[in-house]
Amino acid sequence: MAPPSWFITTVLIWLQAAEIACALPRPSLNGRSQSEAEPVSFKTQYPPVIPGARILAPDTTGVIYTSLERGGRPSLPPFPTVTESSPVATNYRYNPLVTATSSSTTSTPCPESRLAAAMTSQNVFQPVSMSAIPSNIQTRNDHPVPRLGIRSSGPVSTNKFFAGFFLGSQTSAAFTHPYSLAWAKGNGNAQSWGMAISHIEAGMLAYGPPEDRLPGHPVSYYINPVGLQSMILSAAELGNSTVVSTDASQPMSAQVTLQPRNGTSSNITFPIFQGMGYVTGIYTNLQPLIQSSIFFRNVVTAGSPRVGIFKYRATLEDNTSWLIYVIPSNGTDPNLHLDSNTNLRGPAGFSGIIQVAKNPAGDSGEKFYDNSSGVYPLSVNVTGSVTSNTGTYGLSWKKGGKDAASTPLLMFALPHHVSSFDNSTQSRKIALQLRTTTKGNATAVIGENWTMVEPDLPTDMGFAPWSPSKGNVATLSAAAKQVLLNVAPTELQQNMSAQTDLNSMYYSGKALSKFATLIYTVNTLANNPSLAAPALATLKNCFAEFANNKQQFPLVYDNVWKGIVSSASYVTGDSGVDFGNSYYNDHHFHYGYFIHAAAIIGSLDPSWLAQNKDYVNALVRDAGNSVSNDPLFPFSRAFDWFHGHSWAKGLFESFDGKDEESTSEDAMFAYAVKMWGKTVGDASMEARGNLMLGILRRSFHNYFYMEPNNTNQPSNFIANKVTGILFENKVDHTTYFGNNLEYIEGIHMLPLMPNSAYLRNKNFVSQEWNAMFASNASDPAQNVEGGWKGVLYANLALIDPNASWNFFSQSNFSYSWIDGGASRTWYLAYAAGLGGGPA
Ligand SMILES: *[C@@H]1O[C@H](CO)[C@@H](O)[C@H](O)[C@H]1NC(C)=O
Ligand SMILES: *[C@@H]1O[C@H](CO)[C@@H](O)[C@H](O)[C@H]1NC(C)=O
Ligand SMILES: *[C@@H]1O[C@H](CO)[C@@H](O)[C@H](O)[C@H]1NC(C)=O
Ligand SMILES: *[C@@H]1O[C@H](CO)[C@@H](O)[C@H](O)[C@H]1NC(C)=O
Ligand SMILES: *[C@@H]1O[C@H](CO)[C@@H](O)[C@H](O)[C@H]1NC(C)=O
Ligand SMILES: *[C@@H]1O[C@H](CO)[C@@H](O)[C@H](O)[C@H]1NC(C)=O
Ligand SMILES: *[C@@H]1O[C@H](CO)[C@@H](O)[C@H](O)[C@H]1NC(C)=O
Ligand SMILES: *[C@@H]1O[C@H](CO)[C@@H](O)[C@H](O)[C@H]1NC(C)=O
Ligand SMILES: *[C@@H]1O[C@H](CO)[C@@H](O)[C@H](O)[C@H]1NC(C)=O
Ligand SMILES: *[C@@H]1O[C@H](CO)[C@@H](O)[C@H](O)[C@H]1NC(C)=O
Ligand SMILES: *[C@@H]1O[C@H](CO)[C@@H](O)[C@H](O)[C@H]1NC(C)=O
Ligand SMILES: *[C@@H]1O[C@H](CO)[C@@H](O)[C@H](O)[C@H]1NC(C)=O
Repeated sequence: MAPPSWFITTVLIWLQAAEIACALPRPSLNGRSQSEAEPVSFKTQYPPVIPGARILAPDTTGVIYTSLERGGRPSLPPFPTVTESSPVATNYRYNPLVTATSSSTTSTPCPESRLAAAMTSQNVFQPVSMSAIPSNIQTRNDHPVPRLGIRSSGPVSTNKFFAGFFLGSQTSAAFTHPYSLAWAKGNGNAQSWGMAISHIEAGMLAYGPPEDRLPGHPVSYYINPVGLQSMILSAAELGNSTVVSTDASQPMSAQVTLQPRNGTSSNITFPIFQGMGYVTGIYTNLQPLIQSSIFFRNVVTAGSPRVGIFKYRATLEDNTSWLIYVIPSNGTDPNLHLDSNTNLRGPAGFSGIIQVAKNPAGDSGEKFYDNSSGVYPLSVNVTGSVTSNTGTYGLSWKKGGKDAASTPLLMFALPHHVSSFDNSTQSRKIALQLRTTTKGNATAVIGENWTMVEPDLPTDMGFAPWSPSKGNVATLSAAAKQVLLNVAPTELQQNMSAQTDLNSMYYSGKALSKFATLIYTVNTLANNPSLAAPALATLKNCFAEFANNKQQFPLVYDNVWKGIVSSASYVTGDSGVDFGNSYYNDHHFHYGYFIHAAAIIGSLDPSWLAQNKDYVNALVRDAGNSVSNDPLFPFSRAFDWFHGHSWAKGLFESFDGKDEESTSEDAMFAYAVKMWGKTVGDASMEARGNLMLGILRRSFHNYFYMEPNNTNQPSNFIANKVTGILFENKVDHTTYFGNNLEYIEGIHMLPLMPNSAYLRNKNFVSQEWNAMFASNASDPAQNVEGGWKGVLYANLALIDPNASWNFFSQSNFSYSWIDGGASRTWYLAYAAGLGGGPA
């Protein structure tokens, strides 16, 4: 099927160039005072006309907000082959390789040695493998997207927040939270060529029309304005020959450099880190120009927090307060001069550090900023371990700058960090908060490291149905098993190769995962290995098509960005084909399904692993590598260890940042990694998958699955229940493939897997059901058509397993209600495992 059409989101609200009268006074900021601020008598009128600032009003007339971009999910295809009249196959041969001893049937007690091992701490970041790319995957050096201005060699994190600096116009923002940074490229009132800094307050949001299908009529989207240049770190020398380049060699940060011309040694370098407390520009031999397109109302000198640090306080025409710290290398007072209401000018030939921070908290906020001024992060590292069922992960930063050894860093944490901080990190939080664009308030924390703890990891979860109250349920009642066995033959005799050998990695992976789950269900949950055996043999053949790289669009190793991509875009010239896989969209979704299928096949037949392990590990390394020193792949392409979830968008320029739609397929990847790690005996990988599930559960509840007490999303948005598509800059209750409620909510449900009950708590599921899919709601499940109906009723098992069972076991069941990634047999087993069906 054709991918959704592509809307370029040029939601650029570039401020119109304003005439700066030549006659404006040019006050000097000479004569600093240590104790008292020295007001600078420069003012403009506000109102009447602050172009751009006006656009902040909720009235969005004339501003085009688009809601869809490429990179998302498909509509579900029709169920391909099963018909209700399909003959029921019988007469299966017993395959001795298939036994009922899958890794999830853990009824025998653990030996002492295993219990002891469970108490030891498992590092989650050990290498998956350092072996070469499988030889049947051809290497190509001609990726269609160039490494624009990337100075480093080696792998690049394609799906992370700093990608705007090396894509397209190089002007889309990096959302560091709470700030966003974008190259100004001559745009805006200040007509600057420097680095523009934006921070958006809640009152500046624009909202979509009400979602009248839902109780409470929530707004259908909210969006932060982009292109607002509150402060800009620039230099007099920067003009239309400015070159932007990026050192992207670090996995979770970037160093972005602005040079007046290609090859000049003078430059400004910006360390770009998530959570950074200040925006820092490191100047080499340039004349600083600190600018604002919101206009300076006044700028005052404000003393020196420490010897060698010169502070200024700027108030903008939107009444926001910003602090500027100048740390000249030679220690001489830089004597910034306000040239105009857009330009604050420093001395020629300046080398040193300039930092900018927004201060919402008056004197107390300023004290915190003063105390950590002069230092900035140089690199960030994530560590993680799992002990028993408790996960611990940490972010730690190396720092540079003035008095770095004795000055603590100030970094902003997101709500899900704060709620999982250990006690020592909690104690370093301070009373300084700034709103983030789509993740609630960020809270400042003092120090070079944070430690987050995730209790209750689902370490015992296997392939069987699982719930928080029951744990694994691998044993179903005899009556339930009989129903499964009545249904299974119809589904087992589908034409597996017709459903798996497709021109899409996404759809092929879904089908492989579906058949693997079906076979596991028959083999283990229904305890009928002989019925499962021929299908398992067929599934291995279907999987081999991919492991041998003989599918319609074989994979290639892209030696430009370093990763395994579909050849589909190379062949068709269409960047969006297969949801943009060739451009690094959605790899965790696509490869996650393959990894999941492989985990099941390998657990049913360990002898299969030897031949397939390298291939599957290569997929794991591409979508979610565990180390940062693998020359063949970047660290953790999809999962963002700062945000606590993955980003689906790859190498597409996006003015609203990276985004993700399907939380449930994100979790499916983590679950697949966990189960593949368990199957191949990679304890680090298994622990990593468990930890990711724990973190996902927390971030989903903080940001994506909105209960009434949610304080991180706007109160007029949370009645939507799920975010829809969450971008770094906007949240839109919609999908990439249509606006039906069952699509919008259902893409956060599928695939229903053992982890679903872990991530989607009962309160939330009930609220969502009652608001939308109950018989008196606006989109009753019983009226929903196609595979989405099955998705909704499988989700219903989380809160009402009997109703779910009754739906899937009804005599007039239609297979049109089962989507191409699911089976009726598994859905029945799932409902039974959660407590539905006959005892
Ligand atoms: C670049 O700027 C210079 C000087 O500011 C100007 O003379 C020139 O026309 C500009 N070039 C372009 C392509 O705008
Ligand atoms: C800058 O110069 C380098 C080396 O000469 C060249 O590879 C690069 O393409 C140039 N960049 C731009 C933006 O012109
Ligand atoms: C920027 O300037 C610093 C200091 O001179 C230098 O070490 C660095 O290589 C420069 N960066 C670029 C991209 O030229
Ligand atoms: C501007 O902000 C200050 C405090 O930061 C506040 O006292 C003042 O009332 C604000 N002025 C306006 C016009 O909002
Ligand atoms: C320090 O550098 C500034 C900026 O270039 C320059 O104006 C000043 O003269 C320098 N001071 C000394 C003592 O060299
Ligand atoms: C973090 O640091 C440790 C120890 O130096 C290192 O082994 C690990 O690879 C680093 N992790 C990342 C993601 O860079
Ligand atoms: C201020 O900095 C000192 C070290 O210079 C540090 O010990 C202290 O925790 C900091 N206080 C705050 C509130 O940031
Ligand atoms: C953390 O603090 C809580 C309450 O403040 C306390 O109950 C708990 O024992 C502390 N944990 C540790 C490890 O100190
Ligand atoms: C973490 O940061 C705190 C505060 O800066 C410091 O006291 C502690 O030693 C650090 N811990 C580690 C393991 O680096
Ligand atoms: C299964 O589908 C494939 C591909 O569409 C086809 O070639 C094959 O004949 C089908 N097999 C059966 C048994 O229908
Ligand atoms: C919101 O309510 C749920 C109960 O449904 C609870 O588990 C959760 O902790 C609450 N969240 C907050 C932020 O209070
Ligand atoms: C977020 O911060 C704003 C002030 O900046 C405050 O009004 C609001 O209550 C905070 N929200 C939460 C959930 O803490």
